[in-house]
Amino acid sequence: MRPEVQIFETVEAAQIAAARQIAATLQPTTLGQTLTIALSGGSTPRRMHEILADLPGIDWGHVHVFWGDERTVPPDSPQSNYGMARETLLTRVEIPERNVHRMRGELDPQAAAADYAAEMQRVFNMIPPDVPSLDVNVLGIGPDGHTASLFPGTEALAVRDRWVVANRVSQQDTWRITLTYPVLNAARVTLFLAVGDDKGEALYRIFSPAVT
Ligand code: 6PG
Repeated sequence: MRPEVQIFETVEAAQIAAARQIAATLQPTTLGQTLTIALSGGSTPRRMHEILADLPGIDWGHVHVFWGDERTVPPDSPQSNYGMARETLLTRVEIPERNVHRMRGELDPQAAAADYAAEMQRVFNMIPPDVPSLDVNVLGIGPDGHTASLFPGTEALAVRDRWVVANRVSQQDTWRITLTYPVLNAARVTLFLAVGDDKGEALYRIFSPAVT
């Protein structure tokens, strides 16, 4: 399926459109339906989260929140993707704590990945090789073209038999916890939110097949 590309004049317009798209996708089609979303990290989603928190019509009591990736830091670290979402979204909506499924970046990376895989298996009530389908998957893009914590040249890019892995990112001399391609690709709706000139070259490479 060809991706739908939307280009906006302003960053704010992009953030508003993204929040509205997410809100529309988090509308249940059956009574009491549980919906799932994976949030992105980085700085770009901050404003989108604030807008999403103010949008009416989302029953957060039936929404389960996951993350596409996390840094190997405690939840109160300024680097924490969970911490960012807590500040900009989760503390601004009526969502039960049991619906918030954060990656435990404070753990040993391998243990954190295993812990999150077990949490997803529990919530989705399935195990590999089946792959859970998130309703909404929010992703960013780095200047190098990475998304979630699937960085160029890293081992996680090749993983197809696991949902979550610890990924050594030597270019940042760190470990990250990340969902893998099979899970990211299985989402019902995937929304990439990319703003800023520094993403231009990566987007050009992604959308122009001529560039190898
Ligand atoms: C992370 C993200 C990562 C992010 C990009 C873009 O944990 O860093 O999940 O994939 O989306 O690095 O980051 P910015 O939004 O800060 O440009």
